[in-house]
Amino acid sequence: MSFSLPDLPYAHDALAPYMSRETLEYHHDKHHLAYVNTGNNLLKGSEWEGKSLEEVVKGSYGKNQGLFNNAGQHYNHLHFWKWMKPNGGGDKLPGKLEKAITADLGSLAKAKEDFIQAGVTQFGSGWAWLAVKDGKITVMKTPNGESPLVHGAVPILGADVWEHSYYIDYRNRRPDYLKAFVDHLVNWDYVAELYEAASK
Ligand SMILES: [Fe+2]
Repeated sequence: MSFSLPDLPYAHDALAPYMSRETLEYHHDKHHLAYVNTGNNLLKGSEWEGKSLEEVVKGSYGKNQGLFNNAGQHYNHLHFWKWMKPNGGGDKLPGKLEKAITADLGSLAKAKEDFIQAGVTQFGSGWAWLAVKDGKITVMKTPNGESPLVHGAVPILGADVWEHSYYIDYRNRRPDYLKAFVDHLVNWDYVAELYEAASK
């Protein structure tokens, strides 16, 4: 199975003003496409050809850095587009997810604060996460193309903190980007869907 670039689940200008058309044109149409194309080239003839994306990500981690970087970023971005929606964010979470967040992280407000803090303190490029590990929701951060998948956990929400995700709209203000992501963009229904699947 080779990698392919999915369409965005909304128009390029649908997330403005929190994420602009220009950012999505570069981030989705160019950066994600480059991960897909480079990943496909590196996958060809490797021992992971024909495996599922998750198997490629987990298998290549620590073994084939070039393939891992691109497959990992393809996996992360596939979800990233779905982790956002127009008029997202807010405090209306599916009940089961909100209960789990409150039980495992203290409160929704605390979870958001810790998630933003993880993104702010990720030195250089990387991601901030909510993930399910050992049955509990936890806040994580990873560098470059890594994700909770290669650290024994299942990601349910991720924010891309590579500069290509925010520099056009926020310049160096990564904290402002993360606050806007949490307050106005997060698609909590998709987070809940992944949480359900991860807790089965
Ligand atoms: Fe990205």
